Amino acid sequence: MTITVNGIRHEVSEDRREEKLINFIRDDLGLHGTKNGCGIGACGACTVLIDGKTRRSCITTLDKADGASVLTVEGLENPDGTLHPLQQAFMDVGAVQCGFCTPGMLLTGLALLEANPHPSDEEIARAFRGNLCRCTGYQQIFQAVKMAAGIPA
Ligand code: FES
Ligand code: FES
Repeated sequence: MTITVNGIRHEVSEDRREEKLINFIRDDLGLHGTKNGCGIGACGACTVLIDGKTRRSCITTLDKADGASVLTVEGLENPDGTLHPLQQAFMDVGAVQCGFCTPGMLLTGLALLEANPHPSDEEIARAFRGNLCRCTGYQQIFQAVKMAAGIPA
């Protein structure tokens, strides 16, 4: 199999087809930004993008990423090392507390804004309903998405 992660191609043995993507990302590639929360597809902490679509890497097997392009939070920053506008907005409005949910939130927000650059409040809330946060109460996260989209608060 061939799996591209953050623009880098990796050859992966066929006999690993049933292994979980999150373990490949964290253990093989050492990309620990992708968090393992519930491990059963319920919390969204492990969210990555596969060909631009949100996927829960804790329940996604490697064969589902074969030939695809995976984006993790480590791939978000700009080539010059500065933060992606969505990351900067999270910082600016205080949408990060413990930070455990943040990588998954960022990738969910990115997928939303790429599909819908000017989402309504309802569309933002709907997009994030599968991402749990124990700290922020969600309002700052939604505010950060609006800021990154250029929508007045
Ligand atoms: S760790 Fe994957 S959904 Fe919770
Ligand atoms: S910032 Fe702590 S779980 Fe969201």
